[in-house]
Amino acid sequence: MTKENIVGLDIGTSTIKVVQLLKTKEQFSLVKASIEELKFNAEEKDKLSALKQLFKRAKISEKEVNISIEGPSVIIRNIQLPKMSEADLKNAIKYEAEKYIPYNVNEVIVDCQIISEAENNMGVLLVAAKKDSINDKIQLVQKAGLCPWVVDIDSFALINAFNLNNDESEKTIALLNIGSEATSVNIIRGDLLNFTRNIPVGGKRVTEVLAENFKVDLTQAEELKKNPGDKKEAVDEICLNAMREMAIEIKSSFDYYESQYEEGVTKIYISGGVAINENMANFLSENMDLEVKRWSILDRLILGNKSLGDKISPIRDYFAVATGLALRKL
Ligand SMILES: Nc1ncnc2c1ncn2[C@@H]1O[C@H](COP(=O)(O)OP(=O)(O)OP(=O)(O)O)[C@@H](O)[C@H]1O
Ligand SMILES: [Mg+2]
Repeated sequence: MTKENIVGLDIGTSTIKVVQLLKTKEQFSLVKASIEELKFNAEEKDKLSALKQLFKRAKISEKEVNISIEGPSVIIRNIQLPKMSEADLKNAIKYEAEKYIPYNVNEVIVDCQIISEAENNMGVLLVAAKKDSINDKIQLVQKAGLCPWVVDIDSFALINAFNLNNDESEKTIALLNIGSEATSVNIIRGDLLNFTRNIPVGGKRVTEVLAENFKVDLTQAEELKKNPGDKKEAVDEICLNAMREMAIEIKSSFDYYESQYEEGVTKIYISGGVAINENMANFLSENMDLEVKRWSILDRLILGNKSLGDKISPIRDYFAVATGLALRKL
């Protein structure tokens, strides 16, 4: 079944993003995109009311939505297995997965895809996701009166959105999605995900450090981070210092990748709320010694109407995952 209007819903820890796309022939156009901020340490009831508010404000009447999960409850690995048929792989993968996941295999849903084949071996992308995380997301969305259609993984959605227009598919590049609680590092070549890692550091760490330094609460620190006014110099310095741990972790992921694949990352593309920070791309570029570019869905989609483009342009970095989710259809 194919649908013409598709909605992607990215429920993060600090914001909820929604994107509606319209598929016409082989092209996608952006019809709606909107964001709702959550309060710090939002509980389920806060997320529920934010979700309802978001759909009301965005005037989205579609009920079917594609959602995603990420973080420690998702494990993605590139593994090597002896060559076997797809049917045999489907039977074997649950037992193979046990070696890679820190949970009981009955607590997870396991999926896999063959991504390369050699004479005796094959490369398999293994995905395991905790059932309770999936169910929590599904229930939240259902309580808001919506119907979950596809449950995807943030990293896959990110790559699908990026690949709408990837003119560097010959190169090994890293996509970093820098959110509030986590930074997702994805190394791709062509359409394929070769390596992914979730680093549990993001914009919230910066807000916490600012709150400590300026002796304010998290909400005030968040405001200070986005609009520092005459405190800009001090705020910039504190923000970049707080990001240093994240940069070290990213660098170590790149080094690991290079040791495994005998090729290095050649360029970095950033998205997620933290990419909005005007210093972020430069900071990463200096730390990684690589070119770093912001990218967004506005360079990849036709606009349903011009005013939408103007409206979301300053915050375009937020919508990568939601767009990738909306691209998924059955
Ligand atoms: N102008 C800005 N400068 C610095 N940081 C910003 C700016 N705008 C937004 N952010 C940060 O972006 C983060 C939110 O990004 P995003 O919505 O991508 O995260 P999330 O999806 O809610 O989090 P996660 O994916 O970790 O669950 C927050 O930490 C916020 O402070
Ligand atoms: Mg996110």
